[in-house]
Amino acid sequence: MKKFNFHVKPIGLLDMLHFKTMVPRRRAILQSGSLDPITAVYGVNRLAQSLHPKQQKAVVSEIIPRKDASTYVLKADKLAYFRAGQYVSVKLSIGDSITARPYTLAASPSLALEGQYQITVKKAQDAFASDYILNNWTVGTEVTLSGPEGPFSYEPMRDENEVVGLAGGSGITPFMAMAGAILDGTEDFRLTLLYGSRRKEDILYAEELEKICAATDKVKVVHVLSEEEAEGYEHGFIGADLIRKYAPEVYTLYICGPRAMHDFLAKELPKLGLDQKHIRREFVPAPGSPAYFESYSGDQTKVYELTLHLLGEEKRIPLRADEPILTAIERAGIAAPSHCRSGECGWCRSRLICGEVFIPESMDGRRLADDEAGYIHPCSAWPLSDLELEIFPE
Ligand code: FES
Repeated sequence: MKKFNFHVKPIGLLDMLHFKTMVPRRRAILQSGSLDPITAVYGVNRLAQSLHPKQQKAVVSEIIPRKDASTYVLKADKLAYFRAGQYVSVKLSIGDSITARPYTLAASPSLALEGQYQITVKKAQDAFASDYILNNWTVGTEVTLSGPEGPFSYEPMRDENEVVGLAGGSGITPFMAMAGAILDGTEDFRLTLLYGSRRKEDILYAEELEKICAATDKVKVVHVLSEEEAEGYEHGFIGADLIRKYAPEVYTLYICGPRAMHDFLAKELPKLGLDQKHIRREFVPAPGSPAYFESYSGDQTKVYELTLHLLGEEKRIPLRADEPILTAIERAGIAAPSHCRSGECGWCRSRLICGEVFIPESMDGRRLADDEAGYIHPCSAWPLSDLELEIFPE
């Protein structure tokens, strides 16, 4: 039989002894610890909390009337800082519904340091919520907001120094924040803005834009009117030709406007041969009806039933086929989590236990793993049958 001879040197022996006692020592340390939850708040937690609060309160301090819209100046002792182009989700209680709507912060982030945000609400933008705000908010109204959200902001590591912004209607708001930030030095890039409106009188922020352009050569605005011809204004829709006419040689494109504008640009942008990384799109909230999408083949006159699992409770509510599942949940007075309402942020992520849903490809912002594991975003999914769903409140 073969013999093995091990020679253990003194230092090696100490190592082995140390290793042998390591597990019991660790166990003793763990057992001597307190079972009380950790309550200490560290500096880094405080910083994270102030930059990304789950909820903020503010008061309407001023209302600036505009054509078919109002700008609300919101004030609080402290509001989270944000990047120009981001939005907040505004919580609303309308009748029996508890809902939330995203509104872009429409002035420079530097104002947040003074405890001020501005949002602009346009009539019929989303009649249910916008009508409520326009008819009910007055100076002194207290509002509840999420922290700032969204990736539609200038990123110098990714974007060119020249930005071409395409705005339609109330889609001007993120560009107002960017232009304001360029003017006061918070952001450092050049912005050429093509802004589409129906007629001259419909242009939002016309005076503010003029003043900003007069004060800095880093912001340039071209107004494009679809229903009126006027000297000094472009006429028609914003397409590849107009972009080529005003864009510098190298640029990043930022787009914010109604769904129809995005659909039109989907056919126009390939003509520009831009790299995808140079095209940034702001989210577009879900349309009311799934029939907007050519791929929809359901019967939108049906009303299904939703069995909802929520914190261990089960509720049954009616589910109309012609509206996003999130809307049915909110109508039942259930505070479902949501921010963007466009399938992008994942805040409303829920588990589909059974049933069939329609999710348009252009609104499917789920991770691949979520798709495979049966999770959906109810803000951008419509029922095709009775459903059973588990939601996870904030
Ligand atoms: S609310 Fe953002 S994905 Fe549904």
